[in-house]
Order: sequence, then structure tokens, then C-alpha cells
Amino acid sequence: MPAHAVDPVPRAYVRWRTPYPAALWARVDAWRSGRAELAVDLGAGTGLATRDLCARFAQVVAVDGDPAMVEEQPLPSSVEVRVQRAEEAHFVRESVDLVVFANALHWMDADAVLGNARGWLAPDGVVAAWRPLVPELQGRVQEVVQEELRTRWDRFRHPRLRGRDWTRRAVEAHEALEVVDEREITVEVDTDLDRLCGFLSTVSFVNAYARSTGDREGYLTAFWERLRAVGEGTSMRVAVTYELAIARGR
Ligand SMILES: C[S@@+](CC[C@H](N)C(=O)[O-])C[C@H]1O[C@@H](n2cnc3c(N)ncnc32)[C@H](O)[C@@H]1O
Repeated sequence: MPAHAVDPVPRAYVRWRTPYPAALWARVDAWRSGRAELAVDLGAGTGLATRDLCARFAQVVAVDGDPAMVEEQPLPSSVEVRVQRAEEAHFVRESVDLVVFANALHWMDADAVLGNARGWLAPDGVVAAWRPLVPELQGRVQEVVQEELRTRWDRFRHPRLRGRDWTRRAVEAHEALEVVDEREITVEVDTDLDRLCGFLSTVSFVNAYARSTGDREGYLTAFWERLRAVGEGTSMRVAVTYELAIARGR
């Protein structure tokens, strides 16, 4: 097992979370207005979506409540980083072209942050919220991961992370927003066991279970070894599905 497989979560995020797929950005881009002045990334974490926003907008603001996440890796100097809860963020009314919640809305007071985001939207601005579902693996690796999910991790999974559409339903339910596009996007990714294990070490409920054992590193190491014992070869194909909702103001 690579020594870095059990990095602390912020480091593991930078090392193992792969950029969001072009197919997802294509949907977001399709609904963007012609104006590309300001984008806000709420729950920006280590900046996975922030970096993609930099290529699209003159100004990007990354907001996250956890300094360890935003400080893990420097963002481009053009990004304004605000360490604060999304619920407390303020922007000038009608000034923001795109508000993004990349795998983050489920941790927030959704009603409050979506309502605030609506107020910030420039005419024709949009909100885009997405979240990856648990990846679908193949063969024995899939069986072992699913069994661990069922018997250990699931008790530690936030209820909002169960099912496939919490994010979409939260956006749809907001009275100030009108959903213009909602879908699942599935992409197939070539990966290997190390990358899969690294990814799993970033997942909230895997970590919550691992910490409950009193020895996160020991648990993750032993689990990786179980996976390695059943993993045929080192490379594998994984299907990753994202739930996505894009909305504009009513
Ligand atoms: C699953 S991570 C996603 C990070 C990043 N958007 C990405 O796509 O990789 C969720 C992030 O939301 C942040 N977060 C959770 N609740 C928050 C809140 N109420 N306000 C701001 N950030 C929050 C966490 O600190 C974490 O960095």
C-alpha cells in the first residue's frame, strides 16, 4: 500500500479527488449567461470546482467553513478565499453570474443558502448544485465495497447522502428558484485500486466509521489490504454518477 494512502482528509482530497467531468461542466456552461464576471463557489473545499471556474469567470470567490480544506493547496491568486460558513456569506444583490455548490449543499442549511444565492444572482445568473453518488465498481471489488457500506459505513452516512436525488430535490423545493435542468450524468473512469482506496479515504461516512474504531489509519490500511486481496489486476473501470440541478430565479 502506498504510504500516503491514509493521508489526513484535506491532503487526501487534493491527491485523490479527480476534477469534475467535462460532461458536467458542459451542462453548466449551457445555462450560463453571456456575462462571466463573478462566480461564487460555496463549500469550495480544496478548490476542485474553483479551479474550473477560474477558466470561465473574471473573478471567483471560494467560500468554505473549514480552513484546513481551503489552506491545503494554494488557489490561483485571482481567487478570493473566504473562510466562513456559506450561511454567513454576503454578496452584492444581482452581482453574481453563477453560484456553485459542488458536492456541498447537503452539508448546509439549504433553504437559507439557496435563498441568499437567489438574491445575489445577476439577471440571467444561475445556481448549479451537484453531488457524486457512490461509484459503481466491478466484480469482487464492488462486492467488498458494497458489503462494507451495508454493514459498517451506512450507519455513519448522513441521511441526505442516502438515495440519488437529495440535492436536486432541495433545489426544486426552493420557492425562489426555478429548476431549468436536472439530471444524472454518468461517466466511466479508468482507475486503479490505489486511486479507489485514496478516494474512499476522502468520503465522509468512510472516515466517520474509520474514526469510530479509534484507529482511522489502521482500519483504512486493513480495508485496503482486503480490497487488494480480491482486486484482479490493478486497473479497473468505474462508473461515477453525478446528480445535478441548475436553477434560475423565479
Ligand atoms: C465534500 S466537500 C466538497 C468540496 C469541494 N466543493 C469539492 O467539490 O471538492 C464539502 C465542503 O463543504 C464545506 N462545508 C460544509 N458545510 C459548510 C458550510 N455550512 N459552509 C461552508 N462550507 C461548508 C466543507 O468544509 C467541505 O470543504
